[in-house]
Amino acid sequence: MRLFAKGFLIAAALCVALFAVQGCSQNPSTTSTTSGTTATTPASTTSQPGKKLVVGFSQIGSESDWRRAHTKNIQEEAAKRGIDLRFSDAQQKQENQIKAIKNFIAQKVDAIILAPVVETGWEPVLRDAQRAHIPVILSDRGVKVSDPNLYVTLVGPDFVEEGRMAGNWLVNKVGNKKCNIVELQGTAGSAPAIDRKAGFEQAIKSHPNLKIIKSQTGDFKRVTGQQVMDAFIASEGKNINAVYAHNDDMALGAIQSLEAAGIKPGKDVLLVSVDGVKAAFEAMIAGKLNATVECSPLLGPALFDACDKAVKGIKQPKQIPNKEQCFDQSVAPQTIGSRKY
Ligand code: AHR
Repeated sequence: MRLFAKGFLIAAALCVALFAVQGCSQNPSTTSTTSGTTATTPASTTSQPGKKLVVGFSQIGSESDWRRAHTKNIQEEAAKRGIDLRFSDAQQKQENQIKAIKNFIAQKVDAIILAPVVETGWEPVLRDAQRAHIPVILSDRGVKVSDPNLYVTLVGPDFVEEGRMAGNWLVNKVGNKKCNIVELQGTAGSAPAIDRKAGFEQAIKSHPNLKIIKSQTGDFKRVTGQQVMDAFIASEGKNINAVYAHNDDMALGAIQSLEAAGIKPGKDVLLVSVDGVKAAFEAMIAGKLNATVECSPLLGPALFDACDKAVKGIKQPKQIPNKEQCFDQSVAPQTIGSRKY
């Protein structure tokens, strides 16, 4: 009889333990909803009050002032919230980002933030994350995938609209005058390069006096922007009336190139770019850059809110944008003091 009671107690204890283990191993799984939002079913381990959230962050690199401000903001926000942030710098290489994501999966992080260098080629590794029930949140740049459930949400701006704002600014500035434009594109195959080009072209389409005469990638870097601008000046010379740069760093490189060629940036040649970093405001105040369209890198708070919601299984929209505007020389002096990046 005593033996039977002992056996019963052991069996009951085993059942309780098994139930507890099953409950704990229920990581989030992604489900899509008809309203275009994505929800994750909660993982009891990650939504436990007091448990430190572990987030893997695959960053592109440090190609621009914007990117450095983005990294700093995310790291500071993680520290503020007591998040265990695992950071990986891919040095502009997609293969390094894929390796980093695989490492995060092996480390069983609670969520992954990915700033994808290019739009395509992510499907297999995102499927790995999905299979491991780890939600992926995209930062600033989008991806092209056949299944939208492979990521939870994109925290980032509308790049097409940014390009459109830059184009509209130039259209208004030149009026009916002839304007030959050279374009410095961002990293080939990246969402901002593709979308900012498309938006700008839409804005100038019905204005035949504005024409893009040269267009080449400057990889979002100041030094490459300068080199490409050198080549544009060598082939087009005084034929160039305006520069459209997909980011401020390349515009700043182009300014150096124009000055070296004895051309006055901001006067002989108009320059409009995207980002709104401090150095762009300084260049506007110096009269060398004409306008910049804001693209905020301060995405940390919205990214970690999205991570929190994802691990708790809360529905989210497919994109979480931020409001942006165009600044020109007329507002730069009174605005620079309030710029945060
Ligand atoms: O994805 C955002 C872009 O990437 C920024 O405009 C650019 O400066 C950065 O490198």
